[in-house]
This record gives sequence, structure tokens and C-alpha cells, in this order.
Amino acid sequence: MKAKKRVVTSGKERPVEKPKRRPTTRTIRSALVGPKPAKGSRPGPPQVAAPAVVPPVAALGGPALVPPPAGPRARRPGELDPAAVDLRADLGRGLVLANPVLVASGTFGYGVEYADVVDIGRLGAICCKGTTLNPRLGNPPPRVTETPAGMLNSIGLQNPGVDAVLERYAPLWAGWSTPVLVNVAGESIEEYVGVVRRLEGVPGVAGIELNISCPNVGKGGLQFAIDAEAAAAVTRAVRRVTELPLIVKLSPNVADVRPIATAIAAAGADALSAINTLSGMALRPDRTGPFLGNTYGGLSGPAIKPVALRIVYEVTQVVDIPVIAIGGITGLDDVLDFLAVGAVAVQVGTAIFADPGLPVRLVDELRRQCAVDGHGSYRPLIGTALPRRPGAPSARGAEYRP
Ligand SMILES: Cc1cc2nc3c(=O)[nH]c(=O)nc-3n(C[C@H](O)[C@H](O)[C@H](O)COP(=O)(O)O)c2cc1C
Repeated sequence: MKAKKRVVTSGKERPVEKPKRRPTTRTIRSALVGPKPAKGSRPGPPQVAAPAVVPPVAALGGPALVPPPAGPRARRPGELDPAAVDLRADLGRGLVLANPVLVASGTFGYGVEYADVVDIGRLGAICCKGTTLNPRLGNPPPRVTETPAGMLNSIGLQNPGVDAVLERYAPLWAGWSTPVLVNVAGESIEEYVGVVRRLEGVPGVAGIELNISCPNVGKGGLQFAIDAEAAAAVTRAVRRVTELPLIVKLSPNVADVRPIATAIAAAGADALSAINTLSGMALRPDRTGPFLGNTYGGLSGPAIKPVALRIVYEVTQVVDIPVIAIGGITGLDDVLDFLAVGAVAVQVGTAIFADPGLPVRLVDELRRQCAVDGHGSYRPLIGTALPRRPGAPSARGAEYRP
């Protein structure tokens, strides 16, 4: 940490006051709560935090929050009209989103739950909760706990099964302009194929995100995502039965993600999303055993962003299909970072629990940032941090030497 500069004055300018003892106060900002301004970006219109999370200042006994008058600001030379910025994101097979900000599976339900608090129509796309062939009750409680800069969850894919999901939600999705991608999970290739067959041709289903971080019962419970062959096999099998856009979601819980990503791309995926949660655990307060009912949980939130950034950086250098970045996004800076390492779009996950309005706000902030920088589209922001030469050490697997 940098030492603070001390300002030494002669003491003549002002009469020296007897120093008053002040109580020591520290503001602790939850890693998950609250919008943060982007580095170098200009302040936008006043932002209203989600009432359920941040109570109004007045309710805490403080002064009422009076937003400054938001008058129009003259544009600088070279600056564009934000409304004219093209944010369309092409994820392949005809799936072109109005903007590159999606909401991540498991953090936005089936979309319907948020329809009263979020302007659903302004999201790039919605990835719904993981859906299996049959209903699942999920793991025993406790199923979530907070961690430094993140959370652990072991929901265990609780869902009512694909038929109920389609019956309850697809008719609603069909009326939305925002595409809904169904996140598909399974414990065998047959189960994945069974779910996907049911999704084919259903109005309201715009595409599939394959969650391959599931145990493969046929292989002793080894996750599909950790083995290139198994990941390719499930992708290939699903590809054969669907014409829907197919996104396959990578797990970070592997030594080298590159061969897995390339195998999935070769097996016919239209796009990749990265990353799912990192495997972790927490203990009971008295340390008599694991805290979560399932022992292990998935770590998400800002704590995992550096891992996600590294994985997206590695993957975008070895595949030609679009990559959607996920992991710890809480502000525009995170979005810009993921674009810079080659992501074409992003998903916001855990941060939604604290700030449901964040994804839509990020769309506005990205648009404004492009306009200020004179970009007519967000595409010039993609890949700026990737090595200029192909075959850079980072693409060969020599990225980390402690
Ligand atoms: C409570 C919870 C439930 C999740 N459920 C799913 C799921 O059903 N399918 C899936 O592919 N990912 C699931 N995820 C993972 C997220 O989609 C995302 O990949 C991960 O949380 C990392 O992003 P974040 O740090 O922005 O949350 C879940 C995450 C959380 C926190």
C-alpha cells in the first residue's frame, strides 16, 4: 500500500485548532453491493440502487438524496450520439443480440421473476436456470453462503424439469423481444439429448446453453467439462438433434481449458461461455464439518474475475467461435476488460442478487462509453489486450510461473 503524503503547513495561515478526537469510522462496501463507476468514464445520470438492498439514506437518518439536475451536456468533438452506437452481438447461427449484456443462468430464474423490477426488453439475452429432463429437488440445505468478494452455492440444479419449464415459461418468452437461452443440464448424454429434443422448435426458445459441469454417471461421476473427449461427445450428440444456436459453458476447474475449448468448437458448438463457478467449500462456524449440505459449492462473484479473465484470454486465442465471458462482473470496467481479452459478449451473475438493475445499466454505460470514445460500435473494444502475434507464450500454455 502507498504511504499517504503528509501535508506540512507552517501553521501561520490558520490558528492551530486543538485536534478533536473523532470516532474511527470505516466504510465497508460489500463486494457484491452497489454500482461502481468505470475508470475514466464520465459520471452518468444519477443511479438509483435497488431498494431491497440499499435503503434510502433518509431511512438511515441521513439527509434525503437529492439528485443533481441532469441537464443535457454538449458533445465534445468526435463524440457520437449514444443512441447511434451499434451494440449488436453476433453469437452465430443467426442469433444476433441487440446488445452484448446477458444475465447468467441460475441468477435470474426464468426471467419472469424479475419482470417487475428489470426492463427485460433491454437485456441482450436471458440464460434461464439449469433445466434437466426430470424435476430435481436440489441439494440439502444450507445451499448458499457469502464469502470474501463472492458467494458459494450448491443449489444442485433444482428445477421442475423441461416439460414444466416449457409449459409455464415458453409462452411468456415467446412474447418477449429478448431471446431466452435455455441452460441445459444432465447426467448422461442421453439426458442432454432428451432435454434438447424437447426444446427444438418451441416458440420462445432462442437457443441452448449447455451446462457441462455436471457429473457423467456413465463415467463414475466425472464431469463432462473436465475431459475434452466427454465434452466433445456431449456437444456432438446435442448438435446432431438441434438446429438451435448452441453455446457450451466451460468449467474453470481444469488444469488447461484450451484442449477442451477446441474440442467443443470442433464438435459443432456455435459459441462458448466461460466460466461456470469454481469448486470450493466453507466450514460450519464451530468447525465441526462442512457448512454446505452438499459439502462442496460453486464460488462466484468478484473473487473469481481474475480466473475468468485468464480463461477467456486463453480460450479466445485458440477458437474461432464467439466467447461469452462470465465471472464476477460488477461494473463497466469488468465488461471492458472481458471485451479486451476477446469476449464478444458478457453475462452478469451473482451481482444481480445485490443489484438487479445492473445488467441494463451496463448496456447504457457501454453505449455511452463507445459514444464518448467515438466508436460507432462496441466491436473495436474486442481483443485489444490480446497478443498481437499468433503463437504468443500465453497461447502455448506458459502463462503462470510462481
Ligand atoms: C445461485 C447460483 C446458481 C447457478 N446456477 C447455474 C445453473 O443452473 N447453470 C449454470 O450453467 N450455471 C449456474 N450458475 C453459474 C453462473 O451462471 C455463473 O457462471 C457464475 O456464477 C459466474 O458468474 P458470476 O461470478 O457473475 O456469478 C449459478 C450461479 C449461482 C450463483
